[in-house]
Amino acid sequence: MLTLSNIHVSYDGSRILRDVSLTVEPGKVVCLMGRNGVGKTTTLKSITGLVKLDSGSVKLDDTELAGMKPDGRARAGLGYVPQGRDIFPQLTVWENLRIGAIAQGKKLNGEVDRVFGLFPVLKEMLQRKGGVLSGGQQQQLAIGRALLTNPKVLLLDEPTEGIQPNIIDQIGETIKKLRDDGLQPDPTAREIGNAIKLLRREGEIGILLVEQYLDFCLDVGDKFYIMDRGSVVASGPIAELNDEIVKQHLTV
Ligand SMILES: Nc1ncnc2c1ncn2[C@@H]1O[C@H](COP(=O)(O)OP(=O)(O)O)[C@@H](O)[C@H]1O
Ligand SMILES: [Mg+2]
Repeated sequence: MLTLSNIHVSYDGSRILRDVSLTVEPGKVVCLMGRNGVGKTTTLKSITGLVKLDSGSVKLDDTELAGMKPDGRARAGLGYVPQGRDIFPQLTVWENLRIGAIAQGKKLNGEVDRVFGLFPVLKEMLQRKGGVLSGGQQQQLAIGRALLTNPKVLLLDEPTEGIQPNIIDQIGETIKKLRDDGLQPDPTAREIGNAIKLLRREGEIGILLVEQYLDFCLDVGDKFYIMDRGSVVASGPIAELNDEIVKQHLTV
């Protein structure tokens, strides 16, 4: 289990995160939501060690991560998929997949089959250059690469962001209507959602999902935290995410 307790973070002397606490249990999908600039990415970076805490604690099970460097935290069991398309465009899909585990000195065993099970398209494209994949496929590649390090907790920063705007609209606005009509939303967004659900069903990995699209969270999440100006302002089981909370903290 990942536990953040009362973390405070500043950039250049100005406070960005104030007293943020949250937990991610194994087998749960925890949605971290909020408008642009409220501190979601900074929260993930303070978990991975890319920014330093002013105070507070970040624990993975019984291990305090706060004093550790990013590579040590990754080896302790954090998988991180940063915001944006963070793959190597000139390397093949296969090289991209292996690189995270190789950097950690880990051998790839049954994990590869697990990733191909989650994202079959990657198996078909192993020898293609990463740069020719669609935005959604690159997201799948980045998630697959993180999974190959066999993390206890997976941190995903806006996995639907690289996907074309019209498809995002489908996710945000009409996913339910599409379902009601018996139609399928965009396969790539759906595949990312399905992969998250499959991981949840396996029950081993905890997932902290930063996501701006409400319906995606409602579809895959177990619980939510909403941030506003550097603080957690609402939290609870996903079923308690009501219109009032959404109107107050999520709509622009
Ligand atoms: N490297 C940085 N230096 C200074 N300020 C930053 C830096 N990165 C982010 N910020 C500021 O910190 C705040 C939170 O940013 P961020 O965590 O990226 O928000 P979110 O992911 O919720 O959109 C914003 O006001 C942003 O401008
Ligand atoms: Mg962000």
